[in-house]
Amino acid sequence: MRPEAVSLLRCPRTGGHLRVTDRVVAEGRIVSGALVSESGQSYPIRNGIPDFTDSTALTDHERQTRTEYERVAEGIYDTAVDWQFAAFQEDEHTVREAMVDLLCLTPSARVLEVGSGTGRDSVRLARRLGAEGLLHLQDLSPAMAAVCARRMAREGVSCTLDYSVSSALELPFPDEAFDAVFHFGGFNQFGDLRRGAAELTRVVRRGGRVLIGDEAVAPWLKGSEFDHVVTTNNPLFSADTPLDVLPACARDVTCRWIIGNCFYVIVFDRGDGPPPLDLDLPHQGWRGGTMRSRYYGRLEGVTVDAKALAHEAAAREGLSVHAWLDRVVRDAATAGDRSKP
Ligand SMILES: C[S@@+](CC[C@H](N)C(=O)[O-])C[C@H]1O[C@@H](n2cnc3c(N)ncnc32)[C@H](O)[C@@H]1O
Repeated sequence: MRPEAVSLLRCPRTGGHLRVTDRVVAEGRIVSGALVSESGQSYPIRNGIPDFTDSTALTDHERQTRTEYERVAEGIYDTAVDWQFAAFQEDEHTVREAMVDLLCLTPSARVLEVGSGTGRDSVRLARRLGAEGLLHLQDLSPAMAAVCARRMAREGVSCTLDYSVSSALELPFPDEAFDAVFHFGGFNQFGDLRRGAAELTRVVRRGGRVLIGDEAVAPWLKGSEFDHVVTTNNPLFSADTPLDVLPACARDVTCRWIIGNCFYVIVFDRGDGPPPLDLDLPHQGWRGGTMRSRYYGRLEGVTVDAKALAHEAAAREGLSVHAWLDRVVRDAATAGDRSKP
């Protein structure tokens, strides 16, 4: 790893800074050693890649997923992906380039790829960046990360490349560290999808872009014979498109289905909290009030007769129901105070 990369990393547990111990350096890069947090938690650097996956902290689901990807990293995974594109009669190059287009990267962007696998999108992301750009390639599986690093070394790209092994649910980066986050192919296996979406969003800056894609037969194909054929071959296709787990700060959300309409691609920009609302803008209609009064000012219901009477009284006085009720409640509630000497 680059010695300078340490300042971009954080302890995934505490968010605290890290320092390198026991470093072995070759050709200007740290090839082994450990990253140690302020609280003493130590993470090994193996073959130049820091590993933040303390196996005791991984969920059972993550441990199983990692074991599976460790098994298939050398050869089997790439053969399966080739088969998949061929089976759907899709051109992988066109499909993946179109996905990367959706990030609208500038050459100097700082980009994180989560679950980079053997690097089939990583090379395309890297080619969009210039010497001033940064691409951090992250994966849960050390074997997948190693295959990816070999592929990237063969490519000879010009941007800065960093690597880490960690869980997508606990990324080793500070808030808003990246301009864009790209993830394709592992999301359905994250176990806690809401937490995964929140974590990918946490590390992108406000105004930055997040892309998440994985298997899910498009909603209009669910239940069809086509659906039964593909989900019988790979049960992961039966996943639902996880629009409901996006964080409240997601803006300009788009969702498309690609590769035989069997993979979703969700893209959104990171805003600041939920969309803005003017809670105090008066409603123009006969009920009156504001969004704040209608939501935060709700009181108990009254009898149906009393409700009709309130509507009639408000109309007689030319007031909105809100204005009439607000005055009546205030008057009644403070009548005792006024009658005091
Ligand atoms: C199907 S592969 C996709 C690889 C690559 N993005 C591609 O499109 O070929 C899924 C990848 O996500 C990784 N992955 C799965 N669960 C993960 C998690 N919880 N955190 C980080 N990576 C994870 C796997 O190790 C694997 O490399």
